[in-house]
Amino acid sequence: MAVYLVTGAAGFIGANYVHFLLEREPDAHVVAVDYIGFAGNIANLDTAIGKVSFVQADIADLEAMEAIYRKHRPDFVVNFAAESHNDRAILGPSVFMRSNALGAQVMAEASRLVPVTSHVHVSTIEVYGELAAGQQWFTERSPLNAKTPYSAAKAAGDQMVRAYMATYPDLNVRMTHCANNYGRFQLPEKLIPLAVTNLLRGRKVPVYGDGLQSRDWLHVDDHCAAVHQVLHADLPPIPVAAGTDPGLLPIFDISARCEVTNLDIARRVCAELGLDPAEWIEHIPDRPNHDRRYLIDPTKLETELGWAPTREFDAGIAETVAWYVSHRDWWEKIIAEKGDLGFDWSRVGPAAVG
Ligand SMILES: NC(=O)c1ccc[n+]([C@@H]2O[C@H](COP(=O)([O-])OP(=O)(O)OC[C@H]3O[C@@H](n4cnc5c(N)ncnc54)[C@H](O)[C@@H]3O)[C@@H](O)[C@H]2O)c1
Repeated sequence: MAVYLVTGAAGFIGANYVHFLLEREPDAHVVAVDYIGFAGNIANLDTAIGKVSFVQADIADLEAMEAIYRKHRPDFVVNFAAESHNDRAILGPSVFMRSNALGAQVMAEASRLVPVTSHVHVSTIEVYGELAAGQQWFTERSPLNAKTPYSAAKAAGDQMVRAYMATYPDLNVRMTHCANNYGRFQLPEKLIPLAVTNLLRGRKVPVYGDGLQSRDWLHVDDHCAAVHQVLHADLPPIPVAAGTDPGLLPIFDISARCEVTNLDIARRVCAELGLDPAEWIEHIPDRPNHDRRYLIDPTKLETELGWAPTREFDAGIAETVAWYVSHRDWWEKIIAEKGDLGFDWSRVGPAAVG
């Protein structure tokens, strides 16, 4: 029986991956780890509780992580745990550095101290920064050029994971960079669930600035399948040439090449709910230092591992909006506990940012 250790398991993507695993490998033993930070929500694991071993722990705490590894002896590790909201990172970067940078290193170190079959570090398109005018997309060979506190902390974690790949090649640590995800269980501070839950409460959808920030969108189910494929791929040893060519490292970029502006996302959500975008979208002051455009090239994942996205964007958005409509209890509880989750940068002000 394979043992999987999944961190960030009570968050959006981690929880989706736990459900994916239980369906895909019903005989596996899943150890779900999360420290239940701001975005952690144990309700995301609802039907999984009883089928997984849940451990509340901080991935940046090496002693705690080593103890979990020694107790459960995982074969496969997927590290989704991170602080993930760009807006929140502007207000308090330190917790992001701890989870996203130190946490990434501690997880790789735990896999060094208690060896596993393979370990995937889950990272983001955002470590590459924003595309320059005329630049088509990022690839695994693009330089890390993060410019926000969230993405810079993720990039710091990536650098450490790359160092582990190169220094301890037998560890079998791999890494993915994924486009923006959408789907069920996403905290309503992120664009799509924020838009749906605002509209369902008779509030407008706030769109930063002109709304023409462009993002690369992937259904969370396709992300989970890609991570699983990378975890289990039979990869060749890392060649010496990878020292000067990151394209040769076991790093895979994940995308469906689906570029949509934030304004268009807001319009689609309005349309799904039968509301007139002209009436229900409001433009508000942009957040500081907002990346303008991302797009990432999944060719390596497609050609070397045979992965392909399966979810078509129009149907995926419709199904996602319908999920939030039919799971009102899930998000009303979150909003009751945490308050309204949208950011108004005209009111937050420079003092809070500083
Ligand atoms: N959401 C996206 O669009 C997207 C896209 C690409 C990559 N990613 C990456 O995927 C991963 C998961 O993202 P998400 O959207 O599910 O985020 P999320 O914020 O919804 O969930 C992250 C989870 O990690 C937990 N966590 C944070 N720090 C921790 C720590 N130190 N110890 C234990 N648990 C901790 C949180 O409590 C939360 O439950 C992150 O690494 C993120 O960078 C996300």
